[in-house]
Formats: sequence, structure tokens, C-alpha cells
Amino acid sequence: MGTIRSFEDYQEQYKKSIEDPEAFWATIAGEFQWRKKWNKVLEWDFHKPEVKWFIGGKLNITENCIDRHLPQRAKQTAIIWEPNNPKDEALHITYQQLSEEVGKTANMLKAQGVKKGDRVCVYLPMIPQLAYTLLACARIGAVHSVVFAGFSAKSLIDRITDAGSTIVVTADGGFRGDKTINLKGIVDEALEKCPDVSRVIVYEHTKTKAPMKVGRDLWWHEEIKKVNAQCPAEEMDAEDLLFILYTSGSTGKPKGMVHTCGGYMVYTNYTFRTAFNYEEGQVYWCTADIGWITGHSYILYGPLSAGATTVMFEGVPSWPDWGRFWQAIERHKINIFYTAPTAIRSLEKAPISFVESHDLSSLKVLGTVGEPINEEAWNWYDKNIGKGKCPIIDTWWQTETGGFMISPIAHATKLKPAFATLPLPGVQPAVMNESGLEIKGNNIEGRLTIKFPWPSMARTIYGDHQRFKDTYFSTFPGKYFTGDGCKRDEDGYYRITGRVDDIIIVSGHNLGTAEIESAITEHKNVVETAVVGFPHDIKGQAVYAFVILHDKPGNDETLRGEIRETVSKIIGPIAKPDKIQFVSGLPKTRSGKIMRRILRKVAEGDTANLGDTSTLLDPAVVDEIKAGAL
Ligand code: WT7
Repeated sequence: MGTIRSFEDYQEQYKKSIEDPEAFWATIAGEFQWRKKWNKVLEWDFHKPEVKWFIGGKLNITENCIDRHLPQRAKQTAIIWEPNNPKDEALHITYQQLSEEVGKTANMLKAQGVKKGDRVCVYLPMIPQLAYTLLACARIGAVHSVVFAGFSAKSLIDRITDAGSTIVVTADGGFRGDKTINLKGIVDEALEKCPDVSRVIVYEHTKTKAPMKVGRDLWWHEEIKKVNAQCPAEEMDAEDLLFILYTSGSTGKPKGMVHTCGGYMVYTNYTFRTAFNYEEGQVYWCTADIGWITGHSYILYGPLSAGATTVMFEGVPSWPDWGRFWQAIERHKINIFYTAPTAIRSLEKAPISFVESHDLSSLKVLGTVGEPINEEAWNWYDKNIGKGKCPIIDTWWQTETGGFMISPIAHATKLKPAFATLPLPGVQPAVMNESGLEIKGNNIEGRLTIKFPWPSMARTIYGDHQRFKDTYFSTFPGKYFTGDGCKRDEDGYYRITGRVDDIIIVSGHNLGTAEIESAITEHKNVVETAVVGFPHDIKGQAVYAFVILHDKPGNDETLRGEIRETVSKIIGPIAKPDKIQFVSGLPKTRSGKIMRRILRKVAEGDTANLGDTSTLLDPAVVDEIKAGAL
């Protein structure tokens, strides 16, 4: 499908994609290497729900990300690895080397008995072996299930158990700025509760002491020596599982979103090329971690299937100083730079000399993702990083959508700060009111749904199709409900206003209030708690916890510290509450449901207008909560 170079091109492609979606996607899919062509493009029913794309098509995504590039690009860099410490050398991994490393890794997994359909748990820092492992799984038809290497042992247990993984690939440790994280230690702790895991492969990275359990644990560097680099790709059905990736839900249990091979490949490739207006030879850097969907779709699969050069960065933006990103952009002559609003806001606070001392003239396109970007951050990014000449591609999408949904197209869409702008070709949004009717026309506000399938949408929640239906297809029957609110302005442009459910987005990470609440109540002195989000300068939103205690201890701060530590241990440091208010009761309705609306207002500091409190069991608790607000 032709590149989009103007707004007219966009309008034309969008029109085609709506009038005849099957023909539209068949043309794009036709550009890939299939072992066998599909018989039918699409079958769908959002009531069941069931969605299938490229039915009967056979392929292997790694043949499209690696093998088909080799004739022209064997020597081109596929991955640039930028280490945590800028004094260490960056690695340039060519497509040829990638092919060999993935082949070896795949053979190493096979030698451990990993077969098509097995779920491999991956708990690795941002090192090339993470990319090799994912692609190796895809090569042999195993399903990768990546757990972000900042998550706790408890999170690992939940995900390993839910996915039924019997093998874990990890490292001794990972670097994050001046800290070293003992990953193997966390894995060992988790595996005490995961008796079915019979194999752990450990990559030696930080030289952190890692006790190896005989019969279970193997060193990567020893096993990889035993295999060769040739690994034939497994033939996969378009609808076979490619990976599972967990995201927070509004109940405590994380949801294992299932993505399949064909549609995911086609869509991440198309959206990557289109939204960023990617041109042959460009160097592209997405600063996300591969532990999130952004890294899966837009560090690995999208860019590699497009034959791009993609950067993997192990470190953090603030170490050794706040110039780390800008220095790396200069060093690698980055053309497309994609990051999160929370990173922009924290970088904005640092002296501007950190930006000005670097040559950013290679930049052509900027992007953001993860949460709504406020106008102020947008303008700072535009002026100081893009120097007023790089479009900012504000991509709205979700773990569940697999790829960009509403986003400007570089050099084609007229931008508006803080607007994700318009749906990409193939995406059909519908804005709904609370009574479940579609609101037509412009200058409106409501809940964002999508009424027609797109190729990379999640197919189910692993092991729980009913929950998939309940969460996404029941609020507005026949439509996919995103959980987000939005506005559509006079030009038909979309502005995402944030979650309308019990999900808080902290520094671009999606956290369920129920998950945090259940962690807090693990503290022995906590009776009950309710958690809400509140606006935060840098993180976008932060966690505010209202906590009822068994007995009031001498020192509140010590207790707050302990509660934060508990959350950090159970979920991970990102979920720690910024504010903890001790209360004697929570505002509950007669049916026992906590009225979070009230708590949200208190947390936001907006106590003047709490709305109707008449259905509360005990309205007096509200006064106490208001008086003690932090
Ligand atoms: C939620 C999905 C998609 C990868 C990162 C997060 C929010 C995401 C934007 C944006 C406004 C955004 C939404 C969405 N969100 N991108 N550009 N503008 N909001 O993936 O963890 O699945 O979170 O992030 O609320 O529903 P995720």
C-alpha cells in the first residue's frame, strides 16, 4: 500500500480501508513472505467475541523480520544496543548477526525441549539477548511471555502460573543507572512457588553472584556453545499464538493478552512505517522497555519487519546525567525518536544546557505514547528537541490493540498539541454516551470504543475468554470498549482524556487499583484500603492510598515507609503510593461499594464539590477524610 505523503493520501487510504477493509488489508499483507496464502481475509463477531485474520495463511514472523531482508541487508545494522553506561561500547548487530544469534538461541531452547505452543517466561533486562530470545521463541513457534524486569517475585509467580510456563529465561542481573538489580535472586524467590518450572537459563550480564540450582539452572554461555546457528522456522498458522503479555485489570489479577502471528505482523509493520513516515536507512529509537507492548511492537516486530535499524537502550534518562538521551541521539544519529510524556516532563525539569550541548540535527520525527501528553510538555518537546521542525506523533493505543490506533501521520496530518488526532486507516472509532448510544458528529465527549476489527487486536485473555468478553465487549455490546474517555473536536480530532475505569497510569505504566489495594492489605497492620490516582507533575498520575489501620502506631512515617515497601515487594517500585492517608472509615454505599469518585476528588484537592453523597452508608466519614487530606 502506497506511503502516505499528504493529508489527501491519508483521506484516500482511510476511505478505502473503511469501504473495503478486506481488500485494504489483503494488499498490505501481500507485501510479506507467506508460506501459504490465506483463504479468507477476515471473520469476526464482536458478540462472541471472535476475530480471525488471514484465515488459513501460514507464515513465520521471523522469516519476515530477518530472512527476507538478508539478500539486501545482511550487513545493515538491525539493532543498535546502547548500554547502561555510556563509557561502555555500543553494539551494532547486523541482520546477518541477528539471524545467527536468533538461530542459536532457538536451537538452545529446542535443546531444552521447548516446542511449538510452549509458553516461555522471559525475565531479562534490555540487552540483545532479550531480542534474541523473543525472536527465537517465534522462530520455533513457542509463545513468549515477557515479564518486565522491574516487577517483583510475586508478579513473576502470577504470570508464570497463569501462562503455565515451565521454562524461564533470565539474567544474573540488570543495570539501571547506578543500580544493579539482582534478577536471578528474584527468579529464585518466585520459583519456590512455581514447582512446574523445570528449567532456568541464565545469561551472565552484571556478574552478580547467582547461585545455580543443580538440575534446573543452566548458564546461557555454556548452552549456546553446544548449538549451531541454523534453525529452520516453524510454519505457523496466521492465528497461532505469537505471545502473551500481561496488563493490569480492574480486578487484582493481571490479564494475559493474547496476540497472534499474522495480523500482528501486518499491523505493527504497517503502522510503524506509516505513522512515523519511516524511510529506508533511517535509525529509529523507541525508549520503552521490551517488557511492555510498546517494546514488543515498536522496538522489535514493527521496525525489524520493516528492515529498519532499531535501538535498544539499557539505561535510564537521568544517569549519569540528564543529557543521556540527547547524547545517545547525537551518538547514533537518530532520525526517529519515540518516548513517553513522563520522560519528557522529567527531562524538562533539568537545566536546558543538557539538551543544548548535543547535536540533535539528525532528528526528523518525534513520538510519544503511554498517556495523554499535556500541552506544556508537547511544546517543550517540539521547541527544544524537535527545534520546531519535527512532527510529534502522539500515538494512542493499548496492550490490547497491539499497535497504534489513533495517531497523526508524520508530514501528512496537521498537528494539534495534546491531540492524538485521527484514526489510522482501518480503525473505526465510535464515541458512546453512558446510556450506550453512539454520539455522532463533532464537538462531543464520551467513551471511546472501536466498532470494527483491526488485524493486531488481542484475540482473548489467556485461559479466560469470558473475562475478555466481560471486560471489552459487554459494556457496549458489539463494540470493543477501550476503557478510555475522549473528546472529538470540531475537526473530528480525538483527544484522549484518560481512563474511565479503575486503572491508574503512573509514568505511562498501567496499574490496577485493585492490584495495589490487595498489595497494601498484605501489611499486617492494614484492615482495608482504597486507592485512587491524582495528578502528578512528572508521573502524570500518582497513587493516593486511603488506609484503615488496626491500631495507630507511634510514627506514621515509619508505617508509610513499610506500606510502600510492601507494595514494592509485591508489585514493583512503580506501584508505590506517593501519598498515604490514614482514615477510620471509607465512603461506602449501602451495598458496600467504595465511592471512588469522592476519594478521587479528595486526592485531587477538589473537595468543594463532592457531588451527591446521600447514598453513603455513613456520610460523616467524608468530613474526616476531607479534613485529613494530604
Ligand atoms: C492506556 C493503555 C500503548 C502502549 C503504552 C501503554 C493510555 C496510551 C496514549 C496516548 C493518551 C494514552 C490510555 C490507554 N494511553 N497512549 N498517546 N494518549 N493516552 O499501554 O499499558 O496497555 O495502557 O494508556 O489510557 O488506554 P497500556
